[in-house]
Amino acid sequence: MKVVILKDAAAVAKYGANIFIKQISRKPDSVLGLATGSTPVALYKELIDAYKSGQVSFKKVSSFNLDEYLGLNPTHPQSYRYFMNQQLFDHIDIDKASTFVPPGDAEDPFTACALYETAIKQKGGIDIQLLGIGRNGHIGFNEPSSSLMSRTRIKTLTRATIDDNARFFGPDEYQPHLSITMGIGTILESKKVVLLATGENKAEAIKATVEGPLTAACPASALQLHEQVVLVIDEAAASLLSDVELYKHIEIENQKLLERLGRA
Ligand code: PGA
Repeated sequence: MKVVILKDAAAVAKYGANIFIKQISRKPDSVLGLATGSTPVALYKELIDAYKSGQVSFKKVSSFNLDEYLGLNPTHPQSYRYFMNQQLFDHIDIDKASTFVPPGDAEDPFTACALYETAIKQKGGIDIQLLGIGRNGHIGFNEPSSSLMSRTRIKTLTRATIDDNARFFGPDEYQPHLSITMGIGTILESKKVVLLATGENKAEAIKATVEGPLTAACPASALQLHEQVVLVIDEAAASLLSDVELYKHIEIENQKLLERLGRA
């Protein structure tokens, strides 16, 4: 697992955005896996800036979001479709018809889950998947105890996640307890994975992800099985790792090698 430890959240966003910009430069019709939550917002701002300065175009890009609340329609301000429009899609040249978010208002959500998997396959699979991480180690809405081979399905949110996300909902506003989420098996099939984490409240989940056993108790630990995963985290999120200096040393050596090969 590649672990890149940077000073702060701003550096994490920049580093993460650069990975996506390079990916799109190499493959203009890349299929991106995207995430919601507070952490990716700064990365999306970097992507918008890069688009506005002519550094990148999303014209041929398509995207699949990880998850959506079940029971919210796409125009609901707390829906993840609305979030993605606001935070990214409305500000870049992506064709909205090529952006996919699980349908929270599907009449038959079970069929919708199967169709989401099919749609990903029809696009040739996800080239690069962006992830945040919950304090409980969830990725997407794959809460602890999720099957490590799971596919897109309906998941009940844990109390911890409902409480963490309550800040986005008004006191009298309906907050869903169910979601549609890509499975851990779906995520593991993407060709590359970039997980971002910032802040001390993520330190335990990051330690369990990188150094803990492979366990459904920390769904993100399943990433240990992935061939190409990079964790981009700040000092605070890295603070419980057993050997921060080792990860920093590995990254410095990696960078030196890439520079020598002209691939930095
Ligand atoms: P956050 O959420 O970025 O708002 O902390 C991450 C997640 O729950 O995946």
